[in-house]
Amino acid sequence: PVIYFVTPTYPRREQAPELIRLAHTLLHVPRIHWILANDYNACNAYLDGFLVKLGLPFTHLASPMPEFYRKKKPMPRGVANRRGAIQWIRQRNITNGILYFGDDDNTYDLRLFSEIRETQRVSMFPVGLIEEYSVSGPIVKKGKVVGFLDSWVAERRWPVDMAGFATNLAYLAEHSNASMPYKPGYEEDLFLRSIKLNLNIIEPKARNCTEILVWHTQTKTRERATLRISNKYLDDRSNLGGL
Ligand code: UGA
Ligand code: MN
Repeated sequence: PVIYFVTPTYPRREQAPELIRLAHTLLHVPRIHWILANDYNACNAYLDGFLVKLGLPFTHLASPMPEFYRKKKPMPRGVANRRGAIQWIRQRNITNGILYFGDDDNTYDLRLFSEIRETQRVSMFPVGLIEEYSVSGPIVKKGKVVGFLDSWVAERRWPVDMAGFATNLAYLAEHSNASMPYKPGYEEDLFLRSIKLNLNIIEPKARNCTEILVWHTQTKTRERATLRISNKYLDDRSNLGGL
C-alpha cells in the first residue's frame, strides 16, 4: 500500500529548510504520497515549484487555520491542515493505503516507513524527545499493547503523540465519524476515539515498541533582530512593511 504522509506546515522563516530536510528523507521512501497541507490561504508558487522538482507524488493543500482558532491560547496547531488532508482522502474514497501524520519538524528513521506500511488497522510505536520523560509510547506485554507511557496523560484515553501511530485507510473508511477536533492537546485522543480504537486491535511496531524510529525534534528559533535603518535612506516607510 501507498503511505499517505500528511504534513501540516505553516509560513515562517524555518519553513523552507524544514521541508527540504523532510523531503530528503521522503525521497528515500518508495510508494509514498506526500500531502503537504499549508496553513495559508492559497497554494504558494515556491512550494509548488519545490514539490514538482522533487518528483514525488504529492498533493499541495491550502488549509488555513480559521481566524477564530488562531487567536486562541493554546492554539490548535496543524489541525486545520490534518482535517483538510482527511477530507481530501475521503472525497476521493481512497481506501487502499496507510495514513500517517508526520509534522514538518520531526525526524524520521527510514525503517519507520517499512513498519507502518504493514498496518492492518491501527499501529503504534514510541516517539522520542517528548517532554519530560523524553519518550512517549505504548507499553507492550506478550506482543499486546497494555498501557502507555507519556509525560502528560491527563484525561486522555489514548495518551500518544501524533507521530506515534498510523491508520489503515480501509479501517478509517469504516468510521464515517472520523474527525480531528480543534482541541489543543486532545487531537490524537479524540481522533483515535472517533475511529473507535480499542486496545485489542493496536499493532505494536518497532520491535514491540522497544525502538525509537521517530523523534519530536524542534528547531530552535531566535527573536528577530530589529532592523535599524537610518531614516535618510527611507523616503517611504511602507517599503519596510514586510520586515
Ligand atoms: C506537538 C505535536 O507533535 C503535534 O503533532 C501537535 O499537533 C502539537 O504538539 C499540538 O497539539 O499543539 P509541536 O512540536 O509542539 O507539536 O508543534 P509544531 O511542530 O509547532 O506544530 C505541529 C504541526 O502543525 C507542525 O507540522 C507545524 O508545521 C503545524 N503548524 C503549527 C501549523 O500548521 N500552523 C501553526 O500555526 C503552527
Ligand atoms: Mn513540532
